[in-house]
Formats: sequence, C-alpha cells, structure tokens
Amino acid sequence: MGKNRRIMVIGSGGREHALALRLLESDSVGEVIVCPGNPGTEAAPPELADRGKVMRNVGGDPTEAAVTSAVDLAVVGPEAPLCAGLADRLGDRGIACFGPSELAARLEGSKEFMKSFAERHGIRTARHVVVREPGALEAALDGFEAPPVVKADGLCAGKGVVVARDFDEARQAALGMLSGERFGAAGTTLVLEERLIGFETSVHAICDGKRWVVLPPVQDHKRLLDADHGPNTGGMGTFAPTPRVGGELMLRIERDIIGRAVQGMAEDGCPFRGCLFAGLMISPTGEVVLLEFNVRFGDPETQVLMGLIDADLAELFGAAAQGRLMQKLSLRQAHALCVVLAAAGYPDNPRKGDVIAGLAAAGAVPGVRVYHAGTRRDGGRVVTAGGRVLGVTAVADSMKLAREHAYRAVEAIDFAGKQWRGDIGLSVLSEAAS
Ligand code: AMP
Ligand code: GLY
Repeated sequence: MGKNRRIMVIGSGGREHALALRLLESDSVGEVIVCPGNPGTEAAPPELADRGKVMRNVGGDPTEAAVTSAVDLAVVGPEAPLCAGLADRLGDRGIACFGPSELAARLEGSKEFMKSFAERHGIRTARHVVVREPGALEAALDGFEAPPVVKADGLCAGKGVVVARDFDEARQAALGMLSGERFGAAGTTLVLEERLIGFETSVHAICDGKRWVVLPPVQDHKRLLDADHGPNTGGMGTFAPTPRVGGELMLRIERDIIGRAVQGMAEDGCPFRGCLFAGLMISPTGEVVLLEFNVRFGDPETQVLMGLIDADLAELFGAAAQGRLMQKLSLRQAHALCVVLAAAGYPDNPRKGDVIAGLAAAGAVPGVRVYHAGTRRDGGRVVTAGGRVLGVTAVADSMKLAREHAYRAVEAIDFAGKQWRGDIGLSVLSEAAS
C-alpha cells in the first residue's frame, strides 16, 4: 500500500462515520468509500477536501463494491456481516480486511461458544448454565440463589440480555426466548448467568492474530434516562479515558482478558484479526470479570476513541489485517465525551422524518464533531431516520471541558422529540471533585 490508500468502511452508523473520518485524516489515505454510509459520509469535510481527499458513499453488495473500487483495505463496522463471513469472502477476493473471520467472530456470535472458550483459556466470567429446552429451565433456575441474567445465545442486535429483578421475570424472559418468539433461532439456546455487581467498563484492542494494542478504557451509559433510569439502549453516551480504570487495573485487563483471548484464539486455530471489544465488570474488590466479547468497535465507544488515537489509523488497521502489527500505539493526551441524541419513541418505536436543525452551529463548537447515525437526506434537509440519530462528540484537554463543549453543541441541535441524557460523564467529575 502506498501513500494514497483507498479504504472502504462497511456500515451506516455513527461508529462508521467516526471510523471513516479518522481514516480519511490519516496521512496515508487519499479516499474513503463507505458502503452504504449515511448523510455524514457523503463527502469529505471542507478541510480534508482542500487537501485533495475524497469521501463518498456506495450502495450494493459490500464485497462486490470493494472489488470494483479496488480498495486497499476494508474495515467492517457491525457484527452481523462479520458473523456471516464477510471477512472471509473479502479475503477470498484478495481484499485485506480489518475484521475477524466467521470462526473468530463466534466470540460475539455465540454466547455459548464464548463461555466455553473463556473456560478453556482461563478467562474469568460469571458462573453460568446453558439451557436448550423449556423442560430443563426449572432445574437450571433452581441452581441460582439470586435471579440470574438471561442471555440469548445468538446475535440479537444488543437486545438479547435480560437482567431480571426476580425469578419470575427471568423465567418469563427465558420461556419467551426458548419458544423462538422473542429472537427466532438466535434465542432458542440460552445462557443463564449469575448477576454480578461492580462497575462496568469497555476495553478495545486492535489485534493481528498474535499481537495487540489496547485503546483507552471507555465508560458507556446504557439506560435511556439520567441516573440510569429507563430501559436499556444501544448506548446513550460514552467518555474516555475513564479515570476509574487506572494503570494497574488496565495491565490486568490486558494480561488476563485480552492477552488470553488473542493467544487462545490462535491456539484454537482461529486467530483473531480486528477489533476485540471486552465488556467488563470490575467487582467491588477490583477483580476483573468478562461480561461479553464483541468482535468489532462499539457504538458509541468508537466516537470517543477516534478522537484519542494519534497514529495513522489506516496503517494500524492494515498492519493488523495482515498480521504485522509492530508499532506501539501513540495516543493523544486528551479526553473525549459523546452524547447521543435519540429520536422520539426510542428505543421501542423511534419516529422518523423529524427535521434536524443546527448541525453547522454544533459542529462549530471547539473540538466538536457531530457524527451521523439514524439520519437521512431529504432534499436540502437532514431528517431523523433511526433510533440513535446523532453522536455529539467533543475532544478537549480535560473531561470537564469535553463535557462542556459536547453539551453546548447538544443545545445547538434541534429536532422534534429529541431525547438525550444530561449526565454523561457527570459521576466521575463529581467523584473527582469530592
Ligand atoms: P452483554 O451484552 O452480555 O454485555 O449484556 C448487556 C448488559 O447487561 C451488560 O452491559 C450489563 O449491563 C448487563 N449484564 C450482562 N451480564 C451481566 C451479569 N452477569 N451481571 C450483571 N449485569 C450483566
Ligand atoms: N455500545 C455497545 C456496543 O456497541 O455493543
């Protein structure tokens, strides 16, 4: 690959907008094509276009689009195509892909696979049992002293986990999944898991099959409303690095979770190349327990991580895809915070078609990028077109400043029914102040 790389990003959300923009900023990149993309990835922003850089969207089948455009590297955003073998298909057509093979993607695609893998390789997870039929459910529930967490085995777009408040809620959730009513075939095998307490954090690692580099620890905010009220969502906001995860804890996460996983996958004959995202619970005594692996970048975790990487991202992804990751990762000494703006009715029934105003004013706040997710162009206007609409992200020298700038930009954007949380990052700032 030369100095004028052409990269394809596959996906259409806020994560892909953030990846595409950060890749286009890399010195080695001349063009980023996003398949299918969104209104945010239609064109390069003026400051990059002025340097001769091109960004555009294409439709159609991603493998065919990558071959036709003769891209140097494909970067796959979402998990579903990875679990369905997209990296393998791209590889068969001679396209280098940053993203794991179908076999390696089972770390996210099957909770049962993940659990047995973790057991085999000494990665600590919550105690669990697998249930395959309603007749086995009562005996399985009897094995728990407190109501267990119920998890569908397969991919359920982030909705396959029920943290039950009592045994009856766990039973009803399990029966709904086992019958196939809730999630079809993805739910007919279940994992019941001991409920853990502590605080959650996410650690992403760029892996080349043998080696890895870790990115700063992220904290997300899964519930819809302030102070963690309301239903679970795909994520209403993030910040990084989280001061709750210090250097010593990070080293243990790297050694006991990421390192064991990369080595374990290589030993098992399905080396992991791509982004490994570990969802972790840190117990009150500081023990690290794995809740889940994802085989791709998080959304909206990516929106904050992209502002903290100081490396040529295309070079880094290319090296990982080709099994030649040698460099240490250089990071900016900065803080990033993302506030998600969601549509009216999200998460159950997001309304579409509300006109979005104020995008330019929000983008003019210092250090702010407004990443598009559920948006659509409608003539000269941009309208809502999905649940999570925008990821308003600020990078600054301190968390306090990142938070102030992100919320100033949030106030500048207007659409009917706009929902957002006012407390992203607030808890750690209050902890720091007390
Ligand atoms: P997962 O998709 O497995 O990460 O689960 C989604 C969310 O459910 C996690 O981020 C946690 O908030 C919660 N969760 C999952 N497993 C557990 C567990 N064993 N104990 C407590 N909370 C959990
Ligand atoms: N924000 C959580 C995820 O991307 O899975």
